[in-house]
Amino acid sequence: MDEYRKTNLANWDERVAGHMAPDGYGVDQFIENPTRITSVVQHDAAKIGDVSGLTLLHSQCHIGTDTLSWARLGATVTGLDFSPKAIDAARGIAARSGLDATFVETELYDAPEHISGTFDLVYTSVGAICWMPDLTKWAQILAGFVKPGGRFWIRDSHPALMALDDTRDDEQLVVRFPYFHQATPINFPDEASYLGSATLENKDSYSWAHSIADVITALMDAGLTLERVEEYKHLDWQFLPFMEKQEDETWVLPEAIRDNVPMQFSILSKKPGAESK
Ligand SMILES: C[S@@+](CC[C@H](N)C(=O)[O-])C[C@H]1O[C@@H](n2cnc3c(N)ncnc32)[C@H](O)[C@@H]1O
Repeated sequence: MDEYRKTNLANWDERVAGHMAPDGYGVDQFIENPTRITSVVQHDAAKIGDVSGLTLLHSQCHIGTDTLSWARLGATVTGLDFSPKAIDAARGIAARSGLDATFVETELYDAPEHISGTFDLVYTSVGAICWMPDLTKWAQILAGFVKPGGRFWIRDSHPALMALDDTRDDEQLVVRFPYFHQATPINFPDEASYLGSATLENKDSYSWAHSIADVITALMDAGLTLERVEEYKHLDWQFLPFMEKQEDETWVLPEAIRDNVPMQFSILSKKPGAESK
């Protein structure tokens, strides 16, 4: 693993405690309420459809609340993440919720060495590709886990949004970072995570921009066929100080500028071949 990803690993490992805390991911509520499905999975399930009886691989599953939501919707789930602390937390939440799930600690690019077989649905969402230095390889690896006839889903932050200056508090959308990919990542030191009040000692994290064309091309080159591409005006977390929280807990721009920049994109794609379940 290179120095950038080692730094990211330290940062992600440390975030886990804060995300498990009462003001983090709402883990206790998730465990106590067996019908609770995270808002991220509620959103994506409405697009993907019924997953009962499907095998599902969740890439970059973090502490597993989304993965386990898919299990509650009837899928047989496997989650992967490179953070040992996140994987430990995910296994603990699964055990305390009485849910069957497999969680695998692996760097994404090494996943084929640790996970065997193929899946009806390969899923990744909300803060995934910015941690990947090489999107072509990312797509090849994840497409390799899709069964013939199976599907791949990504929903992630829109690269046009991620190029903006997130420190502006004057309702100005100002481009500060590259939209297009550069080999050298950008360091975003931050002593807080996107959820919870815990402060971080491992403040540094490195991320890479990937344009929409890069994402689409990587998936097509990996042998997937595009079924649906969408762009959204909401985000699951607050990126700009002047974003407004909606009743469903998602964040949007003030109405006057809501149409000015996309917040997220999603792509549903399929591997040609025999019909998967
Ligand atoms: C923003 S989180 C994804 C969050 C997920 N959507 C959720 O809310 O549960 C990003 C995840 O990617 C993982 N990650 C970052 N770089 C990775 C890599 N190179 N290989 C595997 N996992 C990685 C981190 O450990 C973290 O759990």
